[in-house]
Amino acid sequence: MATDIKPAKGKLGVLCVGLGAVSTTLITGTLMARKGLSNPIGSFTQLGKMRVGRGDNKQYRHVGEIVPLVNLNDIVFGAWDVFTDNAYESAMYCQVLKPEDIEPVRDELEHIKPMKACFDPDFARNLVDPSFGRVPDPLWAMPQDTRWNYAQNLRRDIRNFRKENGCDRVVVFWIASTESYIPRNEEVHGSIAGFEAAMKADDRRHLPPSMIYAYAALMEGCPFIMGAPNVCVDIPAMFELSKKQGLPIAGKDFKSGQTMMKSALAPIFRTRLLGVEGWFSTNILGNRDGQVIEHPDNFETKRISKASSIEWILEQDEYPELYSDIYHKVKINYYPPRKDNKESWDNIDIFGWMNYPMQIKVNFLCRDSILAAPICLDLLIFTDLALRAGLAGVQEWLSFYVKKPMTYDDERPVHDLFQQFAMLKNRIRQLGGYEADQELD
Ligand SMILES: NC(=O)c1ccc[n+]([C@@H]2O[C@H](COP(=O)([O-])OP(=O)(O)OC[C@H]3O[C@@H](n4cnc5c(N)ncnc54)[C@H](O)[C@@H]3O)[C@@H](O)[C@H]2O)c1
Repeated sequence: MATDIKPAKGKLGVLCVGLGAVSTTLITGTLMARKGLSNPIGSFTQLGKMRVGRGDNKQYRHVGEIVPLVNLNDIVFGAWDVFTDNAYESAMYCQVLKPEDIEPVRDELEHIKPMKACFDPDFARNLVDPSFGRVPDPLWAMPQDTRWNYAQNLRRDIRNFRKENGCDRVVVFWIASTESYIPRNEEVHGSIAGFEAAMKADDRRHLPPSMIYAYAALMEGCPFIMGAPNVCVDIPAMFELSKKQGLPIAGKDFKSGQTMMKSALAPIFRTRLLGVEGWFSTNILGNRDGQVIEHPDNFETKRISKASSIEWILEQDEYPELYSDIYHKVKINYYPPRKDNKESWDNIDIFGWMNYPMQIKVNFLCRDSILAAPICLDLLIFTDLALRAGLAGVQEWLSFYVKKPMTYDDERPVHDLFQQFAMLKNRIRQLGGYEADQELD
């Protein structure tokens, strides 16, 4: 075991921004797992084994035997939301889990009551649009204030949570709605000074709530994870702040369903040098996330996130004759009857020897939050590891878990699921005091 990583002693606070479908599935599953009532399926930190050492020294060990990971019993959850529902009420409302899978931890869930959100309806219009049904009543948000004052309120919330729960460390995790797309603005997003000046000038247009949470978290010594596709910590001001504070930042947009499949399929075509003419991806989903993404401004954020993976994997510039002319279309349709049980279809038009065309169809009947929860658990556990190991700034090694891996501006993201997994394992090897390697497992 590595010696220069601080031990995972004491309590780890996890402050979820958003207490909706994914958060409550994560929290309920974690509480059930620590009671021994459910198995954390899909979580590499809980179930995964990997090889360390080579040749005669080769061994397969659980991840937690290689690097010191927080024990599930030491995690304390808290949250902010614009709905007043506690975690039990929200889990019941979201209907991801059956009541019998929620009731055994009801008491603990009822204790998780959301703090008032830093919220701006302009960034999630459909969330407060009554034509979609339930709207927050009352709007459980901090009173209208400047961006700067919001940040001070959030910082106070984090300090109170840390103190009240006796947390040794706190990770702040955006698992809230997808915000509308905002292009990067160099003056506001280019430096900490510009960012703070814009907060004080209350520049609402360029500062969505997620950025205020991220700023508050980093100022309070907490790593920040972006689980949605929002432009948030992937701006120079946040790169600078996370480095200055010596804190990890990670994101963005959980790679849970369709994009996971795409990032596993695309490497097949590139490896076998099969051409791709078109890739049509469509989805139906009916949860609150689908409701928010139904708005074109919010869909734009998601579309950009979902659209980028295959072009990177196929290395269009290197193989123009195979991949330069791909018609890639991504659609998400809000369809309430399916709730959280998203269905996705992919039609891939490929071509082979002498340009002969072929087609592949993928129909994934998945469960959005069931796939996302173990990703969240691993992300927060590994981000805590990064914190204790002193890894500041963007955590590229966590790309395995996200659709649009964050990198610094001049670095190329890795989208291929298998390369991402190799990166993840090599970082764990290094942190565990082993050599990173390219050996086959
Ligand atoms: N489930 C998946 O597979 C998956 C994959 C990738 C990304 N995501 C992203 O994860 C996020 C959460 O998804 P979900 O299904 O739980 O959505 P959800 O709508 O059920 O929950 C989001 C919650 O965030 C709250 N919220 C919105 N703005 C807020 C703010 N400013 N402060 C505090 N709370 C706020 C909402 O009230 C809501 O309760 C979404 O952005 C989604 O796009 C999910």
